[in-house]
Amino acid sequence: MCGIVGAIASRNVVPVLVDGLKRLEYRGYDSAGIAVLVDGAIRRVRRVGRVAEMENAAAAEGLSGFLGIGHTRWATHGGVTEPNAHPHVSHDSIAVVHNGIIENHEQQREALRALGYRFESQTDTEVIAHLVHYHYQQDGDLFAATRRAVSELTGAYAIGVIAIDRPQQLVCARMGCPLLIGLGEGENFIASDVSAVISATRRVIFLEEGDLALLTRDEVKVFDRDERAVERKIHVSDVSLASLELGPYSHFMQKEIHEQPKALSDTIEAVLEDGFVAGLFGPNAPALLPTLTGVKILACGTSYYAGLTAKYWIESIAGIQCDVEIASEYRYREAWADPDHLVVTISQSGETLDSMEALKYAKSRGHKTALSICNVRESAIPRASELVFYTRAGAEIGVASTKAFTTQLVALFTLAVTLGKMRGRVDAAAEAGYLDDLRHLPGSVQHALNLEPQIKTWSERFASKSDALFLGRGLHYPIALEGALKLKEISYIHAEAYPAGELKHGPLALVDSDMPVVVIAPNDSLLEKVKSNMQEVRARGGELFVFADLDSHFSESDGVHVIRTPRHVGVLSPVVHAIPVQLLAYHAALARGTDVDKPRNLAKSVTVE
Ligand code: F6R
Repeated sequence: MCGIVGAIASRNVVPVLVDGLKRLEYRGYDSAGIAVLVDGAIRRVRRVGRVAEMENAAAAEGLSGFLGIGHTRWATHGGVTEPNAHPHVSHDSIAVVHNGIIENHEQQREALRALGYRFESQTDTEVIAHLVHYHYQQDGDLFAATRRAVSELTGAYAIGVIAIDRPQQLVCARMGCPLLIGLGEGENFIASDVSAVISATRRVIFLEEGDLALLTRDEVKVFDRDERAVERKIHVSDVSLASLELGPYSHFMQKEIHEQPKALSDTIEAVLEDGFVAGLFGPNAPALLPTLTGVKILACGTSYYAGLTAKYWIESIAGIQCDVEIASEYRYREAWADPDHLVVTISQSGETLDSMEALKYAKSRGHKTALSICNVRESAIPRASELVFYTRAGAEIGVASTKAFTTQLVALFTLAVTLGKMRGRVDAAAEAGYLDDLRHLPGSVQHALNLEPQIKTWSERFASKSDALFLGRGLHYPIALEGALKLKEISYIHAEAYPAGELKHGPLALVDSDMPVVVIAPNDSLLEKVKSNMQEVRARGGELFVFADLDSHFSESDGVHVIRTPRHVGVLSPVVHAIPVQLLAYHAALARGTDVDKPRNLAKSVTVE
């Protein structure tokens, strides 16, 4: 959460900072600010609200300078107010932007108060500004002062620091939060992710844990946690600018929903070329995967639901045990661990703190091998895993995960079949069948997308409701969960999901004519059971909105509305059925006039507990 950007150049950096912050806004969007060195003074503009508001204020003040830092915030310590917005400044001479959480900020605050420092905000970040200031006073070395300051901090941070009398220096440091350096011609940048610098440069260095760096216009020096000068690899980013723009769409979520056929094709390209081979999971996978006897999946939110779906595939196709756990729960219990069970961490962003910590915890409990399924290259979770499968969904900017989810599903399906093949449960004919299923998937997803006008009509009826129930069974129960999550997070309609068979054990009491009940009812072996559950709802006056397959063999009747996705696509059916629930949530949110891409209280990348 929170995005930071910084630039040192021989041109006005304000447009670079503002443009970068707009691209980082998905990381937090409750307030924004920039600090720029202007004529020997640090000038700061901060505003509660979106970056655009801060941009207008900066323009009104005519802010312009060659060195600056910026921040877009998702509040943790202290409310959403201008004094709590970053950058934080100490004695008008040091300005700091920070992503992360400083755990010992209370102690540091007390110590700094005793030294005469006064605090203007409730943030943990202000502590960093004063600490750097304190050390800077000692010998006037900004880099050394920042190094001393961070050595006194516990917690997670990515920071950018400037000083009033160092117009040629931008200092940054990272521990536990992402930070990269963008290398330009006669100008250099820092940013939380590559989207923020891509208009200026594609050449980036991903800082490692504990790194500090000193940037001038012409030079970048990186030092590791042991204070040794190090050379970090320069990557040339292949992120396309078009992937960061809306194009003809109204929202990123809508764009990303419609990008799913391509995202899926790109993600399965290597599988279709090589078959279900261990090498898909990294160079170490052929040696490591065959020794494993079970799977433990750790994830949060939508990624957790991808994991729940995978449990069905892994147990039925690979024939091995698979547990799925919410990362924030797992990391705080005395978990039993089998060293030979593969830990699979699923994370779109690769930087979700709970998932990262759960992964570390799993390792500490004895799990030998970790695989991450991730959409962001070089992010923290894949770097902490021996094995990796990168989904190729492209940048996902809408806060609600859509194409990341369906590409996670195909990655997990690929894992299930690969493990099944290794264990002699998937023969050549079965493998060819699964490949065929994958090959046809993008087309079926496109077919489901074509249902948008019908789904939009339904969504208008949901918009006036305050609650909704989602039902599914077996492989499609996680899709019901995902449908409920999508609806609640972007339309703010309260929604819950149940396995349809559980209805009579309690939730049926909620059903009346005011409660729309969405049912995922594909033509699989559980269809007849689902139909009985639907009868239970109808008998209590509940109105049913059913997503069925073309071949599900049941028709509309009073109080039963049906939309048909393509013919049943077999085991990959959850991927196809994810599409209508995404579209339903999107259009219900539109009808209610919420901010679809930036729902209240949320942020895309959750780097706090
Ligand atoms: C919901 C959503 C979240 C994320 C969760 C995990 O639409 O996007 O529930 O799935 O915060 O994020 P990652 O996958 O980045 O670890």
